Amino acid sequence: MNAIHVGLLGLGTVGSGVVQIIENHQDKLMHQVGCPVKVKKILVKNTEKARQIEVDKNILTTEVFDVIHDPEIDVIIEVMGGIEETKTHLLEALKAGKHVVTANKDLMAIYGTELLSVATENGCDLFYEASVAGGIPIIRSLVDGLASDRITKMMGIVNGTTNFILTKMSKFGSPYDAVLKEAQDLGYAESDPTADVEGLDAARKMSILARLGFSMNVDLDDVRVKGISSVTDDDINYSKRLGYTMKLIGIAEEEDGKVEVSVEPTLLPEAHPLASVNDEFNAVYVYGEAVGETMFYGPGAGSLPTATSIVSDLVAVMKNMRLNVTGQSALAPQYKKQIKSLEN
Ligand code: NDP
Ligand code: HSE
Repeated sequence: MNAIHVGLLGLGTVGSGVVQIIENHQDKLMHQVGCPVKVKKILVKNTEKARQIEVDKNILTTEVFDVIHDPEIDVIIEVMGGIEETKTHLLEALKAGKHVVTANKDLMAIYGTELLSVATENGCDLFYEASVAGGIPIIRSLVDGLASDRITKMMGIVNGTTNFILTKMSKFGSPYDAVLKEAQDLGYAESDPTADVEGLDAARKMSILARLGFSMNVDLDDVRVKGISSVTDDDINYSKRLGYTMKLIGIAEEEDGKVEVSVEPTLLPEAHPLASVNDEFNAVYVYGEAVGETMFYGPGAGSLPTATSIVSDLVAVMKNMRLNVTGQSALAPQYKKQIKSLEN
């Protein structure tokens, strides 16, 4: 059977993981979709840069056109980050009939509804599992696993960098700046870590979860956000003495048709399950009216865990291609409106 060809936008921490998984798990991919998967072209800023993995230099390009408009490429995987320029590329890709997989929560939190709608108009898939909580399949769980339930509240740790910093400060008394540098070196932090430490990254992820869990849009300006940059060693030490652990906690809750989202440093009793979620790990509690309380736990950042979610999305796209269907069961708000108008 013919191979499915993939084009990558970006070959940094996450992109390198994607290439590794596609290369090293060919047998599993073959088993899942019945054909080989090949990375045909990769967009980078600098083709001469030393890379984390060995890659054929001939497939690197600085021209996005070469990737998006390659007629052999079926799926674009976006792992370059950024918002406006990246949105332009993805709109172009979708309009050219390419399926898209992205890890970009900044983009999906701000322009997700528009992009999903353009994907639908063009008969394309747009999947974004890796945009929230790295390697945890939380989006798939909300969209499929809990599809029959009414979600009432979600709460959790959804930023790996800040959890890594708070863990090291609390356990070893490590200085904030040094641990932030370590999180950057390990590839957990964003290229500009301000969004991590000021809570914006977590706010964007919580707004994506809220959109999926409650089928409602959340205006990021309405999210109450406080990061950890002003947390001091003293704050952490006093909390510990009183039997509490400090975590950056995101909460999204629906009441009377209104969704409230917040992200704030929070003191948790040491016995609370979220208090023992350490390092770059994330955990999300989802409360459903029927199911009660569920908790999803796993690595929230890093190359291979994040790439696992991306390549699993790729598998989902490829299965859809085989069946000649598109879409995951996520309802964007515009469909909700359509359903409402059908009901009236
Ligand atoms: P990196 O900074 O490590 O990699 C970015 C890659 O994109 C680089 O290869 C870079 O090229 C390329 N790139 C960036 N801008 C451009 C541009 N304008 N034109 C061409 N190429 C460009 O980022 P990450 O891999 O860490 O993150 C990628 C995305 O995944 C982001 O959206 C991030 O939020 C998201 N994400 C990251 C996670 C993580 O743990 N790191 C986890 C979950 C999501 P070059 O190599 O030549 O510089
Ligand atoms: N910078 C993000 C984090 C990467 O630390 O959680 C994963 O989205």
